[in-house]
Parts: sequence; structure tokens; C-alpha cells
Amino acid sequence: MKLLGISGSLRRASFNTALLHAAAELLPSGHTLAIHDLHGLPLFDQDVEEQGDPAEVVALKDAIAAADALLLASPEYNGGISGVLKNAIDWASRKGTARETAPLAGKRVCIVGASPGITGTVRAQDALRLVLRRAGAVVEPQGEVLVFQAHTKIADGKLADERTRELLARHLQTFVAPTGRTS
Ligand SMILES: Cc1cc2nc3c(=O)[nH]c(=O)nc-3n(C[C@H](O)[C@H](O)[C@H](O)COP(=O)(O)O)c2cc1C
Repeated sequence: MKLLGISGSLRRASFNTALLHAAAELLPSGHTLAIHDLHGLPLFDQDVEEQGDPAEVVALKDAIAAADALLLASPEYNGGISGVLKNAIDWASRKGTARETAPLAGKRVCIVGASPGITGTVRAQDALRLVLRRAGAVVEPQGEVLVFQAHTKIADGKLADERTRELLARHLQTFVAPTGRTS
């Protein structure tokens, strides 16, 4: 499976982007993860969309369309998902003028998240599920990876905590092999 990872944080030392890098290492063999950077993605504007998607939007939509599935990592901001990720989802939920279908429609999505607090983005993940369902994406699996107190588990962009690495690896395994078989 070819996965596309998208982080809802633009921060250089983002815990959520670090989770995506860890996921790339922990995916079962035969599966790959490329990360798409949201720096430079313009704010959604329906007037702009009517003139044709800007280059950064075309790149995002092409990357999503080409992926078998998405791995999304969102910070929790004020109990919801980041505006950066919501903006990307809004663009990708629409066909625009040049496509037959919206890239998110029917796309399988796996969610993870990290925060320094004790709830590990649980509220943001719930909010993200709702938004993705409205956009026609298929969110799986049901379990959650909530990396709480992320500052104690992630250092220098590396997920160091062994227990969290195991949880993430299991979550990814369940996602890429939904039958639950591990061998
Ligand atoms: C505007 C703002 C709102 C935040 N709200 C929450 C929140 O509701 N829950 C939470 O756990 N952390 C909250 N945080 C802390 C973030 O979880 C923390 O900044 C985190 O490191 C962001 O993710 P990143 O490391 O991927 O950039 C907030 C941070 C900011 C800047």
C-alpha cells in the first residue's frame, strides 16, 4: 500500500510530523509512506477555486489521488483540528474545475495525533473523524493512537518511547491489513 502522510502542524519541531516519520519506519514491509508538506498551501477561497486550483492545491490533490490511503496527524488546537489541516481537507474535498471526483471521496484514512497534554488529541481526533466523514472519506481503524505528554516521548523529531512505537506499529498493521492478521 502507498500511503500519503499529512501533518496538520507547520512547526519545525512538530510532534505530529515526528509521528508521521516514525510511522514511515514502523510500517510493515512492502508498504510505503511519503509525507506531503502543507507549507504554502493557500487558504481556501471559492473564487480562486472557480478560476482553477493554484499549483499547491493541484499538487496536494494529485498526491492524495495517487495514494492508496492517507495517514493524518493533527495537533489539537482549542479542542479541534488545526486550521492548516482543515484548510487542506476543504480543498481536497472538492473536485475543483479540472477533476471528475474529489480526491478525498472514498479515500481510506488513518488518524494519529500527539500533544504535550494528557489527552493526546482525543478531541481533535473525534472532530477530524466527523470532518472526514462529511468529506466522504473512510476513516479506519476504529482504535486510536493518542500520544499524550508527547514532549516526554518525542525528542529531536524522533519517537523514542518504545511502548508508543509498539502501539503505532500495531495501529498501522491493522490499517494496512484490515483482517487483523499479522502474518
Ligand atoms: C492555539 C493553540 C491551541 C492549543 N490547544 C490545545 C488543546 O486544545 N489541547 C491540547 O492538548 N493541546 C493544545 N495546544 C498545545 C498543542 O498540543 C501543542 O502546541 C503541540 O505541540 C502542537 O502540535 P505540534 O507539536 O505537532 O506542532 C494548543 C496549542 C496552540 C498553539
